[in-house]
Amino acid sequence: MGQDGALAALNPAAGASTWMMLAVVGAKGGCGTSLLAANLAAELAATRSVCLVDLQFSKGDLAGCLNLAPTHCVRDVLGPDVRLDAAAVRGSVEAHSSGLDVLTQPYDLVDLIRVDAGEVDRLLGVTSQAWSVVVADCGSGIEEALLTAMRRATFVLLVVTPTIPALRDAVRTLGLLKDLGVPQSRVRLALNRWQSGLSLDQADIEEQLAMTSFVTFAEDLHACVAAEERGALLSEAAPRSRLTRDVRAAATRVLAELDQLAPSLRSL
Ligand SMILES: Nc1ncnc2c1ncn2[C@@H]1O[C@H](COP(=O)(O)OP(=O)(O)OP(=O)(O)O)[C@@H](O)[C@H]1O
Ligand SMILES: [Mg+2]
Repeated sequence: MGQDGALAALNPAAGASTWMMLAVVGAKGGCGTSLLAANLAAELAATRSVCLVDLQFSKGDLAGCLNLAPTHCVRDVLGPDVRLDAAAVRGSVEAHSSGLDVLTQPYDLVDLIRVDAGEVDRLLGVTSQAWSVVVADCGSGIEEALLTAMRRATFVLLVVTPTIPALRDAVRTLGLLKDLGVPQSRVRLALNRWQSGLSLDQADIEEQLAMTSFVTFAEDLHACVAAEERGALLSEAAPRSRLTRDVRAAATRVLAELDQLAPSLRSL
């Protein structure tokens, strides 16, 4: 299939998503996509039933991030022989102490089966029926399965750090999303690792991307290291940090936006 054909296959005429799903997408690897997806999802889980899905099929590590030792993983609900229904997905998630359910990637990297975008699409559909909100960690890859999730999302949270390479890849990602039929009106900018005094300031980034920041997250190495050392949430490891406050404020905005963009969806 040529490039146009491949994009068309991912962009059926069905139109915008009716799923309550946030796709967290990194402009570049290492932008903080997993950290933000996990901590935002845990905040959302205080008021909604939330399933966090690790879609980073190459070295996804939400289990490590949340100190989970899963007995099942996303592989268990993918594949041509799998009977995919809500019970199967419920049986494959790991419960986190925050109330969040997590569909993890396997720890072992030997399990490199080909990932079918159609199967991932069905998985996300079933998951969005069974939980009030789905948060997908899409990393920064552009595999078909990830593009499917981005296209299906209620909106895409594009994580950008204030560096030239990240900004360049954010522009490329916005171009790709547009080609997939995801208009800029369904993309929100998350500025991560923000600090004052950088040569690339917020106004520069917003001008380059032709969009304003939806949420910002402070640079806070101390809080992140404390969380990573324990596999803890930022709210547990650094409850009073600026970054934790940013995550809380962002979760409130994300939920309001999901409710506004997908108003007909029920709350479970
Ligand atoms: N706001 C922040 N302040 C300081 N460090 C941060 C911040 N956000 C993320 N980091 C750190 O950046 C590193 C990468 O974060 P993370 O693994 O979440 O990124 P990622 O985009 O998921 O990476 P990958 O592309 O490998 O999946 C981690 O060590 C994390 O603690
Ligand atoms: Mg990641």
